[in-house]
Amino acid sequence: MPKHKATPVPAINLKYSCFRLRVGTSKIHRWGVYAAEDIPANRKVIEYTGEKIGPREAKRRASTPYLFVLDDHWTIDGAVGGSGAQLVNHCCEPNLVSRIMKGHILYMSLRAIHKGEELTLDYNYDDTDETMGCLCGKPKCRGTINLK
Ligand SMILES: C[S@@+](CC[C@H](N)C(=O)[O-])C[C@H]1O[C@@H](n2cnc3c(N)ncnc32)[C@H](O)[C@@H]1O
Ligand SMILES: [Zn+2]
Repeated sequence: MPKHKATPVPAINLKYSCFRLRVGTSKIHRWGVYAAEDIPANRKVIEYTGEKIGPREAKRRASTPYLFVLDDHWTIDGAVGGSGAQLVNHCCEPNLVSRIMKGHILYMSLRAIHKGEELTLDYNYDDTDETMGCLCGKPKCRGTINLK
């Protein structure tokens, strides 16, 4: 019998996903999200959900990885009630883009995405944020997740 239980694979919440997606290990970082079917361009793929927190709580959780700033006041923490979109990794040549519509964070396809491809987003971290090296491996990788 193994001594340790295997880490459970995080799930995609089908309520917020418009296509079949799966979570798997990623060459970029730990977990990533993959298309389990072809996705056409310019389509809503998944909504980024989570706990809605105000500025004070966002500051307290600033060092945690699943925060998405919704607007000047609200932040969504995908660690609590996340749809699975919080596991999408950053890439400097992404296939998704985020759009905020009526208080919802939507991840849309930038181009046709084939079954099996990892879904990626340009996090566009500010150059004033802590610098984070990028491991996307794309020819046009800018070297950091932060904008230059
Ligand atoms: C929202 S999480 C993405 C999901 C993450 N792979 C996981 O398993 O929890 C964001 C974190 O993933 C890592 N990450 C995502 N994209 C990356 C990239 N292109 N290069 C290096 N690290 C990346 C960074 O540590 C970042 O803080
Ligand atoms: Zn990169």
